[in-house]
Amino acid sequence: MKKEANGRYEKILELATRKSIFYPSAEVYPNSPSGFWDFGPVGQAIRRKIVGFWRHELVYREDMMEIHGAQILPASVFEGSGHLKSFADPIVQCTKCKKYERADRLISEKINENVPESLAIEKLDEMIKKHKVRCPKCEGELGKVSKFNMMVETIIGRGETKTFLRPEACQSIFLNFPRMVKTMRLKLPCGIAQEGGAFRNEISPRQSITRAIEFSQMEAEVFFDPEKINEIEGFDEVKNYKIRILRLGKDKLEEISADKLVKEGIVPGKLIAYYLARTQQVWNRMGIPLEKLRFREVGKDERAFYSLATFDFEVETSLGWLELIANNYRTDYDLKKHGEHSGADMSYVDEDGKKIIPHIWEISAGVDRTLFAILDCCLKEGKEGLYFSLKPIIAPYHCAVFPLVKKDGMPEFAKKVEKILKDGWFDMIYDESGSIGRRYARADEIGVPFCLTIDGDSLKNEDVTIRERDSGKQVRVKVSELRHVLRDLVTHDMDFGKISKKE
Ligand code: GAP
Repeated sequence: MKKEANGRYEKILELATRKSIFYPSAEVYPNSPSGFWDFGPVGQAIRRKIVGFWRHELVYREDMMEIHGAQILPASVFEGSGHLKSFADPIVQCTKCKKYERADRLISEKINENVPESLAIEKLDEMIKKHKVRCPKCEGELGKVSKFNMMVETIIGRGETKTFLRPEACQSIFLNFPRMVKTMRLKLPCGIAQEGGAFRNEISPRQSITRAIEFSQMEAEVFFDPEKINEIEGFDEVKNYKIRILRLGKDKLEEISADKLVKEGIVPGKLIAYYLARTQQVWNRMGIPLEKLRFREVGKDERAFYSLATFDFEVETSLGWLELIANNYRTDYDLKKHGEHSGADMSYVDEDGKKIIPHIWEISAGVDRTLFAILDCCLKEGKEGLYFSLKPIIAPYHCAVFPLVKKDGMPEFAKKVEKILKDGWFDMIYDESGSIGRRYARADEIGVPFCLTIDGDSLKNEDVTIRERDSGKQVRVKVSELRHVLRDLVTHDMDFGKISKKE
């Protein structure tokens, strides 16, 4: 990943810290380790919106089941999943300053090209030598590459049972599968989803929330019968939808319809093309412009150890192309392995009595990387400085409410408006301090899409002025109409110009 020359990344970090969107965890203590981040009220509000939108658009719309599993799991789970053996990063130590770094990342940065972390360590040693890669801190010579397991061990009780923090949220989903079949009448194809924490012992974590030790994932695992991979409801709705894809070995992005992806054998079946289309639609609606996103077909040597086919969903950011979502064809790997190691029956019997171990299509998205990519795509420079032009559905607050001045009944009227909106389940901030221009600028900075101002006329006419963040346009709206108008603007992303026409 490369930093953009104009310092866009630094500007995002500066604004994010100044507005308490995210900032280093335990920052008051000088020796707190890197790789841990806290999210303040604004950051947490945006995270909630991202997760809420994912839940609505993917979990509810696709009739998935959502669960919440424990984050600490016994070692046996990760022996079964293969993580204790295979979940390792290639690392290298500087012979001079003794600092450890990710070998693949140092080489990538030197040659300005993606180096798969799964390359054999001998190959990485060769590349370090060939490209004369040195320690980024002290220019010292690098030692031999070795593998470092990324699992974070934790102690419960007196340590009798070895336990780990989960490195990916999905393991609980696989373990829950037989219970869902029995108790929730799960019928294939069916998704089980989960949002929550994941933990990886990242060596020298950098690039803020995009590579942390503790982070959050929104994972959806779609269980299906591999013989019925082409039987997916709703495919016709997306069959002509163009998916932006970078094929293996190609350097030019192609836009290929879901139908063609299947017909040309680029993806293993309709179910996979369907979910690629839905994933692109959902993240696009969250605020990632189409021209900045792509699915990258991942080669065998770069894929996770459990995946038969992978299409990473990537976004072009100030850090370069950033992977937000791993889309993996995990086949029956996980259910089989957990069945073998635990002795549990992980099979499924269909209406015709056919017994199978279902296959799995995984949509594994990072909450933190999604947040970062949205902020990166939405950072804009206005007259008053930098601001985040967030989509109303993702913004921390739907609107801000301001009395023009702190007298003549305006604060009381503004409080009445605030209550009406809160009763209608809108999120807002109330602000009466400073000039109206300063208040607009403060709301803009954190991405609030609409500011509602109450002036002298509002009291007479029972109305407010709505100002749109991006255009600066203003329209007067009756208080009685307000909830309805805001609902259209926020939920249906209605064009602001349409309200002025209504007036
Ligand atoms: N269950 C599959 C899985 O976990 P992954 O590619 O390792 O696949 C999925 O992770 C997503 O989780 C990534 O695309 C990214 O958004 C997020 N992620 C992974 N490691 C991360 C880290 N160290 N910090 C922040 N987000 C991370």
